[in-house]
Amino acid sequence: MQPETEVLTVSRDHPEAAALQRAAAILQEGGLVAIPTETVYGLGANALNPQAVARIFQAKGRPADNPLIVHVDSLEMARSLVTDWPELAGRLAAAFWPGPLTLVLPRSERVPDIVTAGGPAVALRMPAHPVALALISAAGMPLAAPSANRSTRPSPTDAAHVLADMNGRIDLVLDGGSATVGIESTVLSLLTDPPLILRPGGISLDQLREIDPRIDYGADHGKASPGTRYRHYAPKAPLRRIAEPPELIREALRLLDRGLRIAVMSHLPLEIAGDGIVMSTLPGDPDGYAAEFYRAVRALDLESPDVILLLDPPSGRGWDAMRDRVLKASGQGGEEPITV
Ligand code: TXA
Ligand code: MG
Repeated sequence: MQPETEVLTVSRDHPEAAALQRAAAILQEGGLVAIPTETVYGLGANALNPQAVARIFQAKGRPADNPLIVHVDSLEMARSLVTDWPELAGRLAAAFWPGPLTLVLPRSERVPDIVTAGGPAVALRMPAHPVALALISAAGMPLAAPSANRSTRPSPTDAAHVLADMNGRIDLVLDGGSATVGIESTVLSLLTDPPLILRPGGISLDQLREIDPRIDYGADHGKASPGTRYRHYAPKAPLRRIAEPPELIREALRLLDRGLRIAVMSHLPLEIAGDGIVMSTLPGDPDGYAAEFYRAVRALDLESPDVILLLDPPSGRGWDAMRDRVLKASGQGGEEPITV
């Protein structure tokens, strides 16, 4: 048995120096520290130490061919990790950093193979969270940090979610409160011209187009980012998407009739009566929906439903990132569908 993971609660806006020093010391020794970011909690290790980064893959159960995002606290640190910092990178960083945008650029020799899964490019992000930024500065190193969930599980938006997946597998969790964005960063590749979105996320296509109108989704953004091949963000119960409220209500009643326990996730209020049903009504705007989605999935999981029925999010472009996550959570949009 591994020892329990240590948890330190820190002030979001004024993180305590003692907690930061403890976390920095663990990172300097090659340990793993879960950190709050504005998107989701990350599982951080020294990005320049291949043994430390290997422990991330181990703790998550993550396939080795899925590269990691490197988190920086300054433009200077970002530039030290790439061989080329195009003018567009500068404009995107000026507009969206710190924030939920990850830029894929040619990596410098300082970045170990294991971080990029052997590839020629590194993904960089400056998180908009005072604790994450202060820790990178205190440790004096870039942090490789994937979402701090076990592989395939929904990303953690609270320290409690990190512990549920990782207790005993990592050294420390810095509890800096709830993530506010609630879904992961947008991953944008600057290796191509025009730049392409490999994973939709916290910064929308329209926002990016204000900086460069040529930016677009990759041909199939569901597969372009290496990690998006795998089953992702999945609750324990099978999650089924349903397009329209009447259809969802009919299906819910049919399953209840068969004696199944069901959970319903919807951005519209639905009237369904019956024993054995748990309802989760999410906000009707994309930002609000994103902020609640993973938390709602994890909460429903704890009720052990036989199936989760989810009303499809609306089709507007502002919902692109949420439709991507919902698709993945239902086992679609990847190469390894959920078979249960
Ligand atoms: O908001 C976020 O991005 C969170 C927080 C912790 O920063 N991190 C996160 O990391 O979501 P992760 O590992 O769960 O997802 C990273 C995504 C994966 O789809 C991965 O394949 C892609 O970024 N990625 C990482 N490095 C890449 C690279 N060099 N080239 C292309 N895609 C890359
Ligand atoms: Mg992840």
